[in-house]
Amino acid sequence: MTTVAPSVHARDLSDAPDWWRQAVVYQVYPRSFADTDGDGLGDITGITSRVPYLAELGVDAIWLSPFYPSALADGGYDVADYRDVDPKLGTLADMDELIAQLHAHGIRVIVDIVPNHTSNDHAWFQEALAAGRGSAARERYIFREGTGPDGSEPPTDWQSTFGGPAWERVADGQWYMHHFDVSQPDLNWANPEVRGDFVKTLRFWSDRGVDGFRIDVAHMLTKDLSEPLPSQAEIEALPQDGSHPLFDRDDVHEVYAEWRAVFNSYDPPRTAVAEAWVHPSRVPLYARAESLGQAFNFDLLEADFDPAQFRRIVADNLALAAESGSSTTWVLSNHDVVRHATRYGLPDAERGADGRPTLKHGNEWLLSGGQTPTLDAERGERRARAAALFVLGLPGSAYLYQGEELGLHEVAEISDDQRQDPTFFRSRGIDQGRDGCRVPLPWSENGPSFGFGEGGAHLPQPEWFAAYAVGLQDGDPASTLSLYRRALDLRHALQTDERLEWIDAGRDDVVAFARPNGWTIVTNFGSEPVPLPAGEVLLSSSPLEGGALAGESTAWIRRA
Ligand code: GLC
Repeated sequence: MTTVAPSVHARDLSDAPDWWRQAVVYQVYPRSFADTDGDGLGDITGITSRVPYLAELGVDAIWLSPFYPSALADGGYDVADYRDVDPKLGTLADMDELIAQLHAHGIRVIVDIVPNHTSNDHAWFQEALAAGRGSAARERYIFREGTGPDGSEPPTDWQSTFGGPAWERVADGQWYMHHFDVSQPDLNWANPEVRGDFVKTLRFWSDRGVDGFRIDVAHMLTKDLSEPLPSQAEIEALPQDGSHPLFDRDDVHEVYAEWRAVFNSYDPPRTAVAEAWVHPSRVPLYARAESLGQAFNFDLLEADFDPAQFRRIVADNLALAAESGSSTTWVLSNHDVVRHATRYGLPDAERGADGRPTLKHGNEWLLSGGQTPTLDAERGERRARAAALFVLGLPGSAYLYQGEELGLHEVAEISDDQRQDPTFFRSRGIDQGRDGCRVPLPWSENGPSFGFGEGGAHLPQPEWFAAYAVGLQDGDPASTLSLYRRALDLRHALQTDERLEWIDAGRDDVVAFARPNGWTIVTNFGSEPVPLPAGEVLLSSSPLEGGALAGESTAWIRRA
C-alpha cells in the first residue's frame, strides 16, 4: 500500500463521530466514473486516479454504488458476492488502496449494501436451485409452490417493481419471489443465517476501513408471508403503517438494531443512511440513532423548481430530522432519476405520477400526456446551479451525484440496443429506464471517450458531452465546476451549526434563510432581478444584474 501526501484540502479524519451530520457526500457510480484498463467499464483504480479531483472538489465523503461481483443485470444492484470486488472493476487490494488514498485526502468512504436480494449468480441461490424443494438452501430465499391444477401459475399476482410478475418458476416447478429483476431473488429475512451473514459483511467492510453504509431499499427486508398470501390489489390497498406484509414493517428495525450494535462497536461508529421509500411520518424510524441513523429525503427529486415546494420540503424535512435527532439529507439527483439540470429544463407539472418525465430518443422528452416538449438546456442548468447553492446552504448533509458538478444533462440519445437498465426491458420499453443518467463522465474535450478511458464507454456519450468536460471547466471561474468547488470550500463555515431561520423576503418567488456566521442564502425563483440584503456577496449562481439577484439564481451573502 503506498501512502500519499495529503492535499491542501485534507481534513482531519479523527474529527468527532458526528462527521456525517452535515457532510457533502459525492455518489460515485463506479462503472461510469473513470476507466483505467480501457475496457469501457469504469474501475476501482479509475476512482483512485481521480481522488485528487474529489479532494479539490472538496467533498467530505464518497458513496460508492455497488462494485461487487455482478452480472450487471441491474447495474451492480444484483450482487453475487458481498465480500469481494467485481473482477471487471478490480480487486480487494485495489479497494484497500482506494480507501487509503481517500482517507489520506481527508475523504471518507460509504459503500452500498443491497440486503433485500442477491443476484441469481450468488452461491446461495445456485445452491438453492441445486438442493431442491424443502431444503435449507431454499429457506434463504422465498420459494413457494405455484397455483392452478399443476402449479404452473405463480403463487400470487404480485408485480415486480421493474415490471412483469414478481415470481419466477425454476426447473423443478417451484417459484421464487423477486421484487426487482428476475435475476434478483429476494432473501428471506426471517432466516437467522441470512441475518448473520449480513453482519459478517458489515464487519468485513468496516474492518477494511469503510466509514459508513448506504442501505438499498431498507424498507423491504422483512416480510410477513403467512398464508393465504394477499393479492396485488390487497397489497396496494393495505395501509403502510408498520404491519403491511411487504413494505416498511416495524420488525425491520430489529435487523437495524442489531446492525447498530455492530456500527457502534467501531471507533468512530460506522454510519448508515437508509434508502427507504416510506411515508414521511415513518422516515424518523429509520433515521433514529438506534436504527440506521440517517435516512434519505427524496422530496426534491420529485419537486419542480418552485418556491412554495422548496420551502415546504425544507420545513417538513427539518421537522422530521428534529423528530429523529438525525440530520436530513438533500438530494437533487442520483443514479435512479433523470438528472436535475434536465428536469428543470422541461415544462413543470407535466410529468408522470412519479414525477419523472419519460425519455424519448433524439433528445425529445415524452411526457405522460404524450407531448414531446423541447428541452431548454440552458434554463435547466441555470436552475440547477441555483438549486445546488440552495441545498448546499441548508443544514443537513448533501448528496451529490457524479456529473452534477459539471451541470451535466440526462442523455436521451441511447438506442434500444444500447440500453442496459432492466426497467427498460421489463416494461417493454414503456419506461426508458435509468441509463441516461449513468453515461460515463466526460473528463476531457477530446479523446476516445472524453477522457473516461482509453477505450470506448459502455453507454454511448453524445457529442455535446465535450462542452461539459472537466478539462474545459477546470480553469473557468464561471463554470459550474468552479461554482461547486467554491461552494464546498465556503460551506465549511456552515458545517458547525444546524440552525436555520427563515427570512421573510416579502415576495412569494423569493426564498431566504439565515445560517450561522451572519450568512443569508437567497434564492430567486422568479424571472425578474430582486434586490439583495446588505452585505458581502460570497457567491452567486449567476452574475448579479446591477447589484440585484438575477432571476432563477441563488446568492450567499454575509450580512453587513
Ligand atoms: C435501489 C437502487 C436501484 C436498484 C434497486 C434494486 O432503489 O437505488 O438502483 O435498481 O434498489 O436494488
